[in-house]
Amino acid sequence: MGSVRWAFRCGSWTPTRSDWLFAARCIQREEKDRIGQFVFAKDAKSAMAGRLLLRKCVCERMGIPWSEIRLERSPRGKPYLAAPLKVSPDSGPEPPAWSFNVSHQGDYAVLAAEQGVQVGVDIMKTTMPGSSSVPEFFRIMTRQFTAYEWTAIQSGGLEHQQLAAFYRHWALKESFIKAIGTGLGFNLQRVEFHLSSELLTHKHALRQTKMHLDEEEEEDWVFEESLLDTDHHVAVALGPADNAGSARLRPSLPPPTSFTLLSFRDLIASASPLTEEDPACWDSFKMKAEAPQRQRETHASK
Ligand SMILES: CC(C)(COP(=O)(O)OP(=O)(O)OC[C@H]1O[C@@H](n2cnc3c(N)ncnc32)[C@H](O)[C@@H]1OP(=O)(O)O)[C@@H](O)C(=O)NCCC(=O)NCCS
Repeated sequence: MGSVRWAFRCGSWTPTRSDWLFAARCIQREEKDRIGQFVFAKDAKSAMAGRLLLRKCVCERMGIPWSEIRLERSPRGKPYLAAPLKVSPDSGPEPPAWSFNVSHQGDYAVLAAEQGVQVGVDIMKTTMPGSSSVPEFFRIMTRQFTAYEWTAIQSGGLEHQQLAAFYRHWALKESFIKAIGTGLGFNLQRVEFHLSSELLTHKHALRQTKMHLDEEEEEDWVFEESLLDTDHHVAVALGPADNAGSARLRPSLPPPTSFTLLSFRDLIASASPLTEEDPACWDSFKMKAEAPQRQRETHASK
């Protein structure tokens, strides 16, 4: 069974003209068009990194040539491999299918992929709320977490600790929602996380956190938590594949893997162009402001 955990620091990526134009040629046309529509460069870069991460993973881990990969989205937006369906036409047992997911927020884009299970990943950066105080922000968010989770979130002394606990819970919930692919519309009160008391560090991923679904502990789901740096929490949800029957997930999983930080050269190492060069897409990219004014100020004042 294989595992992939990759991160790319898109926040500090300043693509050159040739980098951007090459990257744009190496993703599907509709994705290039979607990325061109972002108002801010930060969003365009993170979405571009997400697409390159997906294709790199399918190409290098599933052994499919870059130019043959066709990614589509489920009706709720989750990317999946639509073609080619069979990696090798030879007979013999089919290897367990790969599942993958990306997330981009704060300064990173991340990808988690795993064989034989379904995967969701979410990254959250701990940031101060923009226009309200922390208590007011928590009040607005009341319905996203259960009473048990709020007690855990608010048990930290300092506001920053409480916010870090908030975003840690958030990443866990999102990772589950992203693994099952439902997106908005899932009643978040149905899932409740019970965090491990073990300290989360940069060094290794933890797998002790438990999820309760409709008040029952879910033994078939595993949550891997890591810190990419002090401010960025990542949660990876690993659940039984649709065709897994009643097989238990935990014993078959490889040990938790830490995220590997990739460079832009790594991202495009296996890439090959799918479309012609389109100079207009650089012209439009270089006109974009990096991020909304408020985010840029928060960043600069750090
Ligand atoms: C897409 C969604 C599932 C996650 O969005 P997000 O956390 O803002 O964004 P992330 O950066 O983590 O993930 C975005 C990526 O996930 C993938 N994605 C999109 N829809 C998805 C879905 N339904 N399921 C899984 N992955 C999805 C895509 O690759 C997307 O990147 P792209 O659009 O650039 O290709 C969002 O629509 C959503 O429904 N979020 C739940 C909202 C909520 O109530 N959260 C509260 C948690 S406490």
